[in-house]
Amino acid sequence: MQISLEARPFAELQTAALVSYVFEETDPVQGRVAELDQKTGGLLRKLAQGGELTGKTLEMTLVHAPAGLPAERLLLVGAGKREQYGSTQLRKLAGAALRHLKGRSVKQFAFLVREGEATAEAAQAVTEGLIFANFESDKYKSEKKNGKEVDAVLLAGWDGESRAAGETGLQRGRIIGDAQNFTRDLVNEPSNKLTPRILAERAEAMAREAGLAVEILDEKKIAELKMGALLSVAQGSVEPPRVMVVTYTPANAKPGAPVIGLVGKAVTFDTGGISIKPAEGMEKMKYDMAGGATMLGVMRALAALKPSVKVICVVPSTENMPGGKAQKPGDIQVAMSGKTIEVLNTDAEGRLILADGVTYAKQLGATQLIDAATLTGAIVVALANVNVGVFGSDQAFTDKLLASAKACGEKMWPMPMDDEYREFIKGTMADIQNIGSGKGGGAITGAMFIKEFAGDAPWIHLDIAGTAWLDEAKPWAAKGASAVAVRTLVELVTKL
Ligand code: BES
Ligand code: ZN
Ligand code: ZN
Repeated sequence: MQISLEARPFAELQTAALVSYVFEETDPVQGRVAELDQKTGGLLRKLAQGGELTGKTLEMTLVHAPAGLPAERLLLVGAGKREQYGSTQLRKLAGAALRHLKGRSVKQFAFLVREGEATAEAAQAVTEGLIFANFESDKYKSEKKNGKEVDAVLLAGWDGESRAAGETGLQRGRIIGDAQNFTRDLVNEPSNKLTPRILAERAEAMAREAGLAVEILDEKKIAELKMGALLSVAQGSVEPPRVMVVTYTPANAKPGAPVIGLVGKAVTFDTGGISIKPAEGMEKMKYDMAGGATMLGVMRALAALKPSVKVICVVPSTENMPGGKAQKPGDIQVAMSGKTIEVLNTDAEGRLILADGVTYAKQLGATQLIDAATLTGAIVVALANVNVGVFGSDQAFTDKLLASAKACGEKMWPMPMDDEYREFIKGTMADIQNIGSGKGGGAITGAMFIKEFAGDAPWIHLDIAGTAWLDEAKPWAAKGASAVAVRTLVELVTKL
């Protein structure tokens, strides 16, 4: 989809649809909407008086052949109350407008920003919203929705002095939107089309195209490195594991500067292993590589945005299968760090592979760590599909991440990490065990386990089990992978 800034006044745009948005207030016909009303001979005022134009969130008012405008359609989207309005609402309403028009086979339209809103931030939000919304989860359907994809959008209202800001925001928005869709495409893939080996190939291709350094560790190298926790999960499958290492190095890296380590869980299918999961809903476990796909998407964006810090991305990947060689409950494994782990439940495999991923990221020089994982069903109990669970060992670092999440409209909520929870994973036969002892707090126990391997390095764990997948489509998004946390992590790393 082509997105470009348009300098001509909106009243001259010959387009299939002219789109703008309306606030929910006593008189919704104000500012640019009043200009539109004037051009159309009082049409909008009439619609407002008749109750067909109220500004309520995501209300769609579509007028065909609006008199006085060369556009074929005029679409006004409800932006909700001004007090609650910001770039998060703008991103969603731009996306919802695109999906509304796409459903009506519109291929091209103009999006007109409101008066006083022609900023870089707004151009970025609109561009992200449009690109995200144009994505469909129909890669394997014979009749494709994305045959109906929108081809081109003009961003109108950024004229004169605001043009440079608009261009900056548009570029950043495109990079981030494309990165999110890269992640979504990977997460949507079923496990037969995305094994650890295939994921590694896709990561390698992405890195080469983006100009990032990349190394793929195969099962031999993984064994040489003594990644016993990762290997213990992989041993139950005929598919060999992989570890992807993608590195971004800034042009003039300062010695002694922090190095960010991004570690993502990429279990391409989680059956639970010998502690096998129930059949119902098991198909969803193809998304158990979402953490890894998130980090790869972030790297893709960072390659283009060129932050000033070095970033090392480590993605351990395996299937979790109950094959004849699978590990069994009670088995004791030695992680790469040397810590011994009693595997009481083979379904708590994410923390095992992250243990070695985190250890390796540290060995490669990462000084601050962030991991993302579809780690626990317990986080879905705690926060449902609304918030990402955020666990951290360093308050300042965690606060920065939460601020980034807020700034880019991704809902994340801090979870506790008190020392008391450490007791839950104390091993009886080994240093630690991979599940708690039935005392509850399952999401925290999972986080506590990973923290053991982060050591003293400031570390954040994002449990995205509830939020990485949309069971239902949203007005601004297809169902399937959500790419949650990509925007937040890009924001965090580029603003460090
Ligand atoms: N991949 C799952 C987490 C998950 C579960 C995501 C349900 C979405 C829905 C993870 O590997 C897992 O199975 N975790 C177990 C841990 C338990 C055995 C301590 C869980 O949450 O049930
Ligand atoms: Zn599991
Ligand atoms: Zn899992």
